[in-house]
Amino acid sequence: MEKTKIGIVGLGTVGSGVAKLLLDHGDRTARHAGRTLWVEEVVVRDMNKARDCALPAGVVSDDLTRITKNPQIKAVAHLVGGLEPARTIMLKLLESGKDVVTANKALLAEHGPELFDRARELGRSIAFEASVAGGIPIIANISQCLSANQVESLTGILNGTCNYILTQMAEQGADYAAALAEAQELGYAEADPTLDVDGSDTAQKLAILAHLAFGSRVHWSDIPRVGIDKLEREDIDYAQNLGYRIKLLAVAQLVGEELEMHVSPTLVKAGTPLAEVRGAFNAVSVVGDAVGPLFFHGLGAGQMPTASAVVADLIDTVVGRTGITFRTLELWSKREARVAPLDFKTSTGRFYMRFHVEDRPGVMAEITGVLGRLGISIASVIQHESHDGTTGVVPLVIITHQTTEGATSKAMEELVRLKCVRPGSVRMPIRG
Ligand code: NAP
Ligand code: HSE
Repeated sequence: MEKTKIGIVGLGTVGSGVAKLLLDHGDRTARHAGRTLWVEEVVVRDMNKARDCALPAGVVSDDLTRITKNPQIKAVAHLVGGLEPARTIMLKLLESGKDVVTANKALLAEHGPELFDRARELGRSIAFEASVAGGIPIIANISQCLSANQVESLTGILNGTCNYILTQMAEQGADYAAALAEAQELGYAEADPTLDVDGSDTAQKLAILAHLAFGSRVHWSDIPRVGIDKLEREDIDYAQNLGYRIKLLAVAQLVGEELEMHVSPTLVKAGTPLAEVRGAFNAVSVVGDAVGPLFFHGLGAGQMPTASAVVADLIDTVVGRTGITFRTLELWSKREARVAPLDFKTSTGRFYMRFHVEDRPGVMAEITGVLGRLGISIASVIQHESHDGTTGVVPLVIITHQTTEGATSKAMEELVRLKCVRPGSVRMPIRG
């Protein structure tokens, strides 16, 4: 059988998974590719590190030129995280004539236009299925299978680390720091987990999906985003008692001719599909004008689910499918944006607000007065009796009717300045 030589740069969580799939299941990949995908060279940073996979002697080095100077290597899995040296490595690979497969969404969200331009100039391709939602084939679905549709909305749980933490906190009573440490141990988190928990990783993935699905040109850092790093257990418990689960949701939806986009911890009605996405699973709910609603669900982080997407991209690359798709892809092309971003302040929905307030006459009137003046209608209020009776402070939870982001953010600004409101107030959108 014909042999196509491939390279791997990066042999961490994902790179080791890719090596295992190619070495342990070569027959399977050969059957699907019609040729053997032969791991010719693997490049790492630190030759002294123990590896999670067994590679033949002499394959692993710390010398990238063993790939760039080898004309027999056609395709390379680029599995280095972060921006630099990941960007330089990708440029060197493209410039030495390699087609590249990557899982690095941070790199694409930041340097996508430069990298895609360079690949197009050089007649090379970049495949990136693993960059969003791990093992879920969402990139292929949006860019190919749904190409007869105008996507109307995309709502996703796109970060496995955050969903793992939220599930552990809600279901096991786990502490935030312990759950994050477990997610790191299990290989879900980024090298710098701040990017996971502050919503940046989710915004980077949403920016990629929105570029593909809507022709948006919004940079990930301009997407309004809130992470789970400031979430309090108290709010997880209130949400559960009210019949919701808290999920870090990414939303991109057309409102008329404009695109609403944001990332935020959100109260999602228990029993709805997104609310039931647990652990490191991700999900993307897509509505297309022809196809109607679709729901994709699968592991969004972790070694083998991510390697599954990378190896499928390697197969598509060596058989030539990626080259065809890449040439027609609108992503980071010179084409104009097809949609303008919606002014976030005008986006509508219901909201959850939680305060710690002084337990004395007139406080409720002060708070409802601010909300009423800003046109925010209250759907329900929960204020339990203080249990210890010593602090004189009680939690107050307000659920609003439909209102706007702008009105509720203005209300929070005013409410947190009231003398009766103690620090640590919270506002989150509600869905369902
Ligand atoms: P990782 O475990 O930290 O592995 C990164 C690898 O890159 C390491 O093997 C490291 O080498 C190598 N590396 C760093 N600098 C290098 C250099 N200058 N030259 C050669 N190799 C270099 O990261 P990971 O979790 O596998 O993630 C890799 C990429 O996949 C990231 O972009 C991440 O966002 C993305 N991703 C990860 C997951 C997941 O579940 N982990 C899921 C989807 C996407 P050493 O081992 O020698 O230090
Ligand atoms: N750190 C990412 C996550 C990896 O937890 O979702 C998958 O992109």
